[in-house]
Amino acid sequence: MADTAQLKIADKTIELPIVVGSEGEKAVDISKLRSETGFITLDHGYGNTGSCQSDITFIDGEKGILRYRGYPIEQLAEKSSFIEVAHLLIWGELPNQRQLDEFSELLTAHQMLHEAILDHFDLFPSNAPPMAVLSSVLNALSSFHPQLLEIGDESTFQAAVARIMAKVRTIAAFTYRHALGYNIIYPHPDKKYSANFLHMMFGQPYKEFDPDPTIVRALDAILLLHADHEQNCSTSTVRLVGSSEANLFASVAAGVCALWGPLHGGANVAVVDMLETMVEQDLAIEDFVSQVKDKKNGIRLMGFGHRVYKNFDPRAKIIRGICDDVLSKLSISDPMLDKAKELEEAALNDEYFVSRKLYPNVDFYSGVILRAIGIPKEMFTVMFAIGRMPGWIAQWYEESKFTRIGRPRQIYTGEPERDFTDIEHR
Ligand code: SDX
Repeated sequence: MADTAQLKIADKTIELPIVVGSEGEKAVDISKLRSETGFITLDHGYGNTGSCQSDITFIDGEKGILRYRGYPIEQLAEKSSFIEVAHLLIWGELPNQRQLDEFSELLTAHQMLHEAILDHFDLFPSNAPPMAVLSSVLNALSSFHPQLLEIGDESTFQAAVARIMAKVRTIAAFTYRHALGYNIIYPHPDKKYSANFLHMMFGQPYKEFDPDPTIVRALDAILLLHADHEQNCSTSTVRLVGSSEANLFASVAAGVCALWGPLHGGANVAVVDMLETMVEQDLAIEDFVSQVKDKKNGIRLMGFGHRVYKNFDPRAKIIRGICDDVLSKLSISDPMLDKAKELEEAALNDEYFVSRKLYPNVDFYSGVILRAIGIPKEMFTVMFAIGRMPGWIAQWYEESKFTRIGRPRQIYTGEPERDFTDIEHR
């Protein structure tokens, strides 16, 4: 294949370099387009536009492939842990035992919050959206770690990573406890990441809380499966904010806000709302599917469809397996899981969804597990944010190696020039 593409506009033909990735993905580099032709490209939603070259995550949407730093998600979900995968995403390699122990010790050392931050939780009403609290307190962390706002070397970066990774879990648990009016449970010095989170969420001051290992393993896998997903909406937000040299706390806080939307991370809540409604109303699958297919109802099959996957989201398949595993081990029969499976079966055999290549995505089954673990629906997207934190950090750090602020162009479609009109003549 030629290493340039030709673009003919009017009577001018220019050559644009072709970029080929390590997995054969191809792009036309248009960096010189405007200077050579006066034209820009237009691609609302960026479905055809690459924002960067990245070494972190590879997705093949047609084949349903997802790899973190080259490792297939299926192998990582089966054999690795969330903290190992966080190290892999951020520093590019699975940690050896010494590196894993060091990282784990750093997370333990920095999992507490400054006592003054606890006042922040009291400033929120008990019904405050947990994503609002999470993004606010993450941003507030920048005030307590001024030495980590400018990251000039690896040790400062590692210190910032440790604090954000360790504290995001504590902030989430404290948010939940505060919303219920419960005393907060401080992190346990001996419990590892996911077990410690469950301890802070569901522990009691009067007795030791040892979460079921099945639940700990399921939660750890859920976090791992959410850890990164290349240039999705919230990760692109983190990279764009970081490209202005904004600090890591502010950048991930912005990522939390982007993830909050129901078309993105908020979909795991929307899926459970959808399934709860179907169970409560005893809505027949075919009736609901008909409602979705009739566009004037404006109803989407939440948890289905994806901008990149035009095949199964591999994470959905793995999470569905964890659902079956956890619910049977805990002897939980959740009608929502049965409804979800019926809905999946119906959609996968319906031309409307098949023709649009709509398959279950990561959000379709994750809520069923989070419910089984005892995590309330309002906290589902917070769980997604905890899982995605290492990916945001890794992508922010990769972006920080460039010195060019992200600044897209536009095509203006507003009023032509006109003179100011005094108010008496308007
Ligand atoms: C995540 O980007 C990432 O990587 C995100 C994520 C990550 O890990 O970061 O994977 C996490 O956000 C997963 C997606 C969670 N969102 C949902 O489950 C919400 C429901 N899904 C959709 O709204 C939708 O599928 C999107 C937002 C996920 C993708 O939207 P696109 O790519 O812009 O597709 P589209 O809206 O242009 O839809 C194409 C067609 C349309 O029909 P036609 O106009 O061609 O007739 O498919 C239809 C849509 O109406 N369609 C759906 C549908 N999703 C798309 N119809 C019914 N139900 C759906 N869920």
